[in-house]
Amino acid sequence: MSTISIPGVDRVLFTEDQIDARIRELAMEISRHYEGKTVKLIGVLKGSVFFLTALARYLDVPVKIDFLAISSFSNRSGSPGVVRIAKDLDESIEGEDVLLVEDIVDTGFTLRYLLQTLAGRAPNSLAVCTFLDRNSRRIVQVPVDYRCFEIPDRFVVGFGLDYNQLYRNLGCVAVMKPEK
Ligand code: IMP
Ligand code: MG
Repeated sequence: MSTISIPGVDRVLFTEDQIDARIRELAMEISRHYEGKTVKLIGVLKGSVFFLTALARYLDVPVKIDFLAISSFSNRSGSPGVVRIAKDLDESIEGEDVLLVEDIVDTGFTLRYLLQTLAGRAPNSLAVCTFLDRNSRRIVQVPVDYRCFEIPDRFVVGFGLDYNQLYRNLGCVAVMKPEK
């Protein structure tokens, strides 16, 4: 683990080089799977933007890109899981081979909602690719077809992931100090 001198940030979990190498590897796997097809990458704003663009550049199948944004709320009892679309896709996904690109799958509530919503729009296929997976905190079971890294139960930032909208532009993934 390398140290990093950014206020609030504890240590680096994955370096820029490690991330780049892993994304390259995953892109090869995805390209093989979609050979002969056009893949439509759907990014969930804003966290997945850095990962989506990095991944897209290494894919060697034709790629289309669209984005949506969501808002998550806690319900009255304080539990998570209420999700709605704040900005919808620009185009229809009917008949398309859709790869939903997430920054992190944590409890799974967001992904479950997105999969239900997108599945109802008649894509030809629908798969999930997440940059990070924190499986230890999963509450609802969701299918994850491709993942870059499994991570421990610590809050992380960088490469798109934020803390109060900050740190998204870090090239690495870092663990926040425990008090954050
Ligand atoms: P889920 O619905 O609990 O799976 O929530 C996933 C969403 O929570 C992600 O798309 C992120 O926006 C956010 N999130 C969860 N864990 C982290 C983290 O460690 N750092 C930054 N954002 C996180
Ligand atoms: Mg997200």
